[in-house]
Amino acid sequence: MIEVKNVTKQFQNETEIKYKDITFETGKSYMLLGASGCGKSTLLNIIAGIISPTSGSVLIDGVNMQEKSQKQRDKFRIEKIGYIFQDFKLINEMTVLDNINILNLEGINTQDAPRLLEELGIAEKKNSKIKHLSGGQKQRVAIARALVKAPDIVLADEPTGNLNFAIGELVIKKLVKASKNKTLIAVTHDERLSKYFDKVIDMNQMIADKKDIFGAGGGTKC
Ligand SMILES: Nc1ncnc2c1ncn2[C@@H]1O[C@H](COP(=O)(O)OP(=O)(O)OP(=O)(O)O)[C@@H](O)[C@H]1O
Ligand SMILES: [Mg+2]
Repeated sequence: MIEVKNVTKQFQNETEIKYKDITFETGKSYMLLGASGCGKSTLLNIIAGIISPTSGSVLIDGVNMQEKSQKQRDKFRIEKIGYIFQDFKLINEMTVLDNINILNLEGINTQDAPRLLEELGIAEKKNSKIKHLSGGQKQRVAIARALVKAPDIVLADEPTGNLNFAIGELVIKKLVKASKNKTLIAVTHDERLSKYFDKVIDMNQMIADKKDIFGAGGGTKC
């Protein structure tokens, strides 16, 4: 169970986002919808312990992650969280398999990598360098890398953004299946995919308040 409590995030005195409290239950899949700039990636980064909230806390199975050190949060993320980043965070000069096997350095078993790449339809690219892949192929490598550790929590930031609908649907079904009895939080704009999730959360209702203090006119309606 992931509990987001009284969380706010302020970036360099520019943007302040106040999140409403929310609980993500174990065994459920959640789709996060919301306008660009609303704070979806920021929320995933806070849950993953990559960035710290300015105030408030994230509790995972009752443990307050803000009471842990950054090193402990990093260890927890490496072992328990599969994070599919919006910008993939793959190493361009390395091959597909090496991008996944690099997790061995963190003690992660990656023997499932070939099977995952096969299921995601990119097995034939396993020895290609990332820089030679299309956006959709990179996206699927990022998905395989996140799932290879059989994580307890899957955070997926626009995991189908570069895929056509048919492959996107396949990927979502795979993510939901891989997260059975676990927790899946996926950001996606494609409402056609909502039927695969247990719950759809509209970020417009998740943001208690958002200020773009020095933001250029208009700001984001969240
Ligand atoms: N590192 C940062 N420094 C300053 N401001 C930031 C930073 N990261 C995010 N922000 C600001 O926080 C707000 C939320 O950003 P975030 O990336 O979470 O949005 P998002 O909902 O994921 O948007 P998108 O759908 O475009 O990916 C935006 O106003 C953004 O400019
Ligand atoms: Mg984002």
